[in-house]
Amino acid sequence: MSILVTGGTGFIGSHTSLLLLEKGFNLYIIDSEINSSKNVLKKISSILKFSDEDFSEKINFFKGDLRNISFIEKVFKSAITKNEPIQAVFHFAGLKSVYESNKYPFKYWENNFVGTLNLLKTMEFNSCRTLIFSSSATIYKSVKKEKIKESNLIGPINTYGETKSTIEKLLHAAFKSQPNKWKIANLRYFNPIGAHFSGQIGEEPKGVPNNIFPIILKVAKKEQKILKIFGNDWDTEDGTCVRDYIHIMDLAEGHISAFEFLTKSNPKIISLNLGTGQGHSVLGLINTFKKVNEVNIPYEYTSRREGDNEFVVADNSLAVSVLGWQPKYSIEDMCKDGWKWAKTRK
Ligand code: UD1
Repeated sequence: MSILVTGGTGFIGSHTSLLLLEKGFNLYIIDSEINSSKNVLKKISSILKFSDEDFSEKINFFKGDLRNISFIEKVFKSAITKNEPIQAVFHFAGLKSVYESNKYPFKYWENNFVGTLNLLKTMEFNSCRTLIFSSSATIYKSVKKEKIKESNLIGPINTYGETKSTIEKLLHAAFKSQPNKWKIANLRYFNPIGAHFSGQIGEEPKGVPNNIFPIILKVAKKEQKILKIFGNDWDTEDGTCVRDYIHIMDLAEGHISAFEFLTKSNPKIISLNLGTGQGHSVLGLINTFKKVNEVNIPYEYTSRREGDNEFVVADNSLAVSVLGWQPKYSIEDMCKDGWKWAKTRK
């Protein structure tokens, strides 16, 4: 069976592609390579001990962008020509910088929203109606100190979040128009960090990273002098913000479980939180990283970052009960695996 993975060379896309290949699926991977590189596919292939033949048979890479609908159609056609039509789509492709999204809203609406619209139209045209969508916890309206449930109010405060919540609406509309056909999972991610246990693949953002974990890795490698912690006056145990960090392999497994669940079930649309349900402060994360890896992470406090919330933690009980999925890895594992990957990188 063939699966299309959009954004398949990015952080979450590549780790999920690895698991899909391990399970024996043939992949059609689309990526524009603006924030990743197709070199990761060779590494995945080496982790899986693929021969050159396996690689060319199972991994079909297409460089391009979802804004171009005829390009997407070409990818679907190419699978049909090989007699292995695409039967499901894992849709990771998208832009994700909050700051940039507010500065360049058209760019974000075009890439994230129009890109998804083009993808859905092509899927429908090809009678492919199973979709796993990369949504985000960022779509929730902020709440104080309570774990977030899927039924919480939606209320993003930046353009990036708006594009994700609007895409969810679009997916609901698609489902409603043909309720007997679509199978859709909106997976709302909390904070994925870490890397594959092999140390061969991990998060490799191009340009200057904004998220905490790639910055910790840079400081640990002495590529950046100091980490700036955004505020130590929050109403939390140590004054720094609390997040729900989840090991990238647990997150990838969550996608596989959601796909297997949809495969077995009747047509439906479902939204699920993928997090561990455990909160860790910024300071707690830094201290754990230092301890398990025996490295120094110099930091200083600076003012709060606009748009931050003090406590963002998942209530993951719905995903756990519906999917039978359970995150397995601790914050120590996330720090160890992330460092194993980063320290060998140039
Ligand atoms: C951020 C985005 C979110 C997006 C997610 C994935 C914001 C407000 N939120 O989530 O919409 O879905 O990335 O791309 O941008 N921190 C520091 N110093 C740093 C960087 C981060 O102290 O240099 C702190 C932040 O204040 C936060 C925590 O580390 O408390 C995690 O930050 P980050 O990795 O950017 O993730 P989120 O803010 O949770």
